[in-house]
Amino acid sequence: MEGEDMSSLDLASTRQPIERASHVPGDIYSSPRLFAQEKERIFLKDWLCVARAEEIANPGDYMTLRIMNEPILIVRDLEGAVHAFANLCLHRGVELAFGQGNVKQFTCPYHAWTYDLKGDLRGAPFMRQSTDFEARDCKLKEVKIGLWAGWVFVNLDPTAEPLESYISEFAEDVGFLKMEDCVLGSKLVVDLDCNWKLVVENLMDVYHAQTVHAKSFGKHRGSPDRYPIHLRKYGGTCTTYEAAPMTPDGKTLFRTMPAIADKADNFAISAHLGPNMQVIARADNIHPLIMWPVMPTTSRTIVYNLFPKEFATEPNFKERAQVYHDYLALVLMEDRDMVASLQNAMASSLFVPGRMSFLEKGIHHVLNAYIDRMFSE
Ligand code: FES
Ligand SMILES: [Fe+2]
Repeated sequence: MEGEDMSSLDLASTRQPIERASHVPGDIYSSPRLFAQEKERIFLKDWLCVARAEEIANPGDYMTLRIMNEPILIVRDLEGAVHAFANLCLHRGVELAFGQGNVKQFTCPYHAWTYDLKGDLRGAPFMRQSTDFEARDCKLKEVKIGLWAGWVFVNLDPTAEPLESYISEFAEDVGFLKMEDCVLGSKLVVDLDCNWKLVVENLMDVYHAQTVHAKSFGKHRGSPDRYPIHLRKYGGTCTTYEAAPMTPDGKTLFRTMPAIADKADNFAISAHLGPNMQVIARADNIHPLIMWPVMPTTSRTIVYNLFPKEFATEPNFKERAQVYHDYLALVLMEDRDMVASLQNAMASSLFVPGRMSFLEKGIHHVLNAYIDRMFSE
């Protein structure tokens, strides 16, 4: 696709109502040019969930990430406010911090310019002969930040709509889970040999659970044609269904979460927030996933294994949370070969996109939202 005209992509059959629709051409998942355009049109524009606030719980706690190579620094200042900055020293642009940790100030590892936790430049050695340069006038570039339900979101577009309006429908769908009252039992990071969108689609694909996951959670959930999939703005979806807790035998090691005490013990919900977050919950556990593009044909999925804070103070919490963690890892491993095989198909000269099932309503919706974003003028 590189160097070719994107208008040669045949998207017309994906634009049809789902009863007539086909999947998209493989270039959508493999073209470097489209990957660059996704950064420009999606990842530099949308609100992106990047962390749990509890991961930077204390003054001086920071964490760093690169969003499609854009370096971001998130830090909690001495008053407890959370900031996001471009993780670029004002001198030559070296990243001020790597990984995560706790600091009193940031010292650039290259020539030792120092910054406080609010991003103000506090010291710049050997700059006294540089005229019209005042360290006190310099501040790290701020990135828009928002907090919701215990999550940290950033947006690289200074003109973006407020987080509250961006997530309004999603908040209505999953706000009752009270993720702000949850703690992170564990975090699982999995690198997958496929484009990030194949993981997004895989997570909203209710069609594959009975086959790929037949030996794991597939046998503990209701038939997928029984549950309506609700469509939301920006490619969002939400469906509530019936499924057992995410343990090997489908039995909870805790109990129904206090926030949803009125729900049955086989309650389940799965909601997508564009572009790259899926919140999945069972009665006793919430496991949101975030899918990060790495290269056109590789991605990183982070699974947050959340429990209500009431569970976290009980005996053997860590051990019990680990059972869920291991099971989530096993399920993702079941998907891993499928998404890698899908990715291979996307670059095959033999691949022809096939027709969709009505169970792929969410995928049809997210693909059409993607086409709107990527191919409109
Ligand atoms: S690049 Fe940071 S002090 Fe020179
Ligand atoms: Fe799966």
